[in-house]
Amino acid sequence: MTKLLELKNVSKTFPGVKALQNVQLDLHAGEVLGLCGENGAGKSTLMKILTGIYTPDPGAEIWLQGTKVDVRDVNHARELGLSIIHQELNMVPDLTVAQNLYLGRPGSSKGGFVNDKDLNKMAGDLFDRLGMDINPKSYIRDLSVARQQMVEIARALDFDSKILVMDEPTAALTLQETDALFGMIRDFVTPETGLIYISHRMPEIEEITDRVTVLRDGEYVGTVVTDDVEMREIISMMVGREVSGEARPRTTVESDEVLLKVEGLNTKHLLRDISFEVRKGEVLGFAGLMGAGRTEVARAVFGADPKQSGDTYLHGQKVNIRTAADAVRNGIGYLSEDRKTFGLLLEQDIKQNAVMAAMKDFNIGGFILDGKIKTVGQEMSDRLRVKTPSVNQLLGKLSGGNQQKVVIAKWLVRNCDVLIFDEPTRGIDVGAKEEIYELIEQLSGQGKAIIVISSELPEVLRVSHRIAVMANGRITGFLDNADADQENIMELATVGKTQVVDGAVA
Ligand SMILES: Nc1ncnc2c1ncn2[C@@H]1O[C@H](COP(=O)(O)OP(=O)(O)OP(=O)(O)O)[C@@H](O)[C@H]1O
Ligand SMILES: [Mg+2]
Repeated sequence: MTKLLELKNVSKTFPGVKALQNVQLDLHAGEVLGLCGENGAGKSTLMKILTGIYTPDPGAEIWLQGTKVDVRDVNHARELGLSIIHQELNMVPDLTVAQNLYLGRPGSSKGGFVNDKDLNKMAGDLFDRLGMDINPKSYIRDLSVARQQMVEIARALDFDSKILVMDEPTAALTLQETDALFGMIRDFVTPETGLIYISHRMPEIEEITDRVTVLRDGEYVGTVVTDDVEMREIISMMVGREVSGEARPRTTVESDEVLLKVEGLNTKHLLRDISFEVRKGEVLGFAGLMGAGRTEVARAVFGADPKQSGDTYLHGQKVNIRTAADAVRNGIGYLSEDRKTFGLLLEQDIKQNAVMAAMKDFNIGGFILDGKIKTVGQEMSDRLRVKTPSVNQLLGKLSGGNQQKVVIAKWLVRNCDVLIFDEPTRGIDVGAKEEIYELIEQLSGQGKAIIVISSELPEVLRVSHRIAVMANGRITGFLDNADADQENIMELATVGKTQVVDGAVA
């Protein structure tokens, strides 16, 4: 096996954080190498060092095809054939797809003026080659997160990379898009190239990788051949102990009291006659294929999108929710699937973000109660095991999964009666996922009404008492957890001709 890449002795110290310590990694020509580890293990940091974004501590060595190199910066990394598709999207919303693709690249402007016609042509050719159906003239802000991700992928593939790094590329992709991505990965990998693939989704690791390198707490744990091990062995390497995949028995809902009732909800574009109830202490899961309308329901109930018609009742009282502020005032919290636009302020620290939705509890007559903010922030950070040197850390400096935990902290502090979790474990590692499920269970045990939207069926089945299945903007059926399995959920999710089922609690 020729070694395409070798990293040796890589360490990285941030103020107060030893992110990596003497880490090694090697990538063979022609392979896909998985990179696994819990949230904050150091995966993204290692890849940012490889691609010239961060400078490692002294002593690190990077070898490309047997030659030692010194990756000076991002441009130099590209010249060396090293590209990365980041965990967080990196595009300018107010520029077009084509403009973003060629941003900052030589040859993208003539005499200082960008020639859009040429850019569009180049981008169009690139998408044709990759079999992607994306309009080069669209503005990035108008694309779904998944499509933005596809543009990022196209951008990296266009660099003629030898080594391509994908940092959780599928977090926002549908199953079909993930399949398409895997097709592109297989096309990309030749005897001259290699790819490093980061994901928390073990089925993807199993399917697409040849070998897997595991990091834990910034240290190298080991590398295994994917076909030779079970996924749970990789998970054990990640968390440092045996993990049981045992599902725990579900709790039952004690109360008959309906806390949230939505009746006859319609929106202009998608939703048709959505009616459902959530009881006190109940977790209602929403399943369905991408585009079925689950997030739209959440956004309409939360007042983030306008309703055409439909009534919302809380504790039996009709409430008028027109804006997100109305929803929050009425005790509804929404943990959105897109933490960047909705959830968090990356320039603020953990404690500020945690108390953000509940500021009125943290000031008296205009005086901000800094001590209380610190105490509560600390409590939440401990409870959710946020990996950070302190709660004064800026959010932008946390690893992706730890940012997601702070979104959850924010709504826990707000103490809402109704909580809507939209893809709550996106980007969260396997161990922490289970903690979040337990947290949802605790919250329902405290008598909250909870909605969980998830694309991962095992997750919906794990947390929900009942499951509402959607297809084409309608609810096609409700299933009790005891009767639900992946098959009958999928059946309801793919109902073509809409058969509307009454939304009453069975
Ligand atoms: N710019 C930074 N400043 C300070 N600390 C940082 C910075 N970037 C990362 N860290 C810290 O370094 C550690 C490793 O973070 P990294 O983002 O590499 O983790 P990760 O393995 O990619 O996790 P995730 O699965 O959550 O994305 C974490 O403790 C993180 O908080
Ligand atoms: Mg990361």
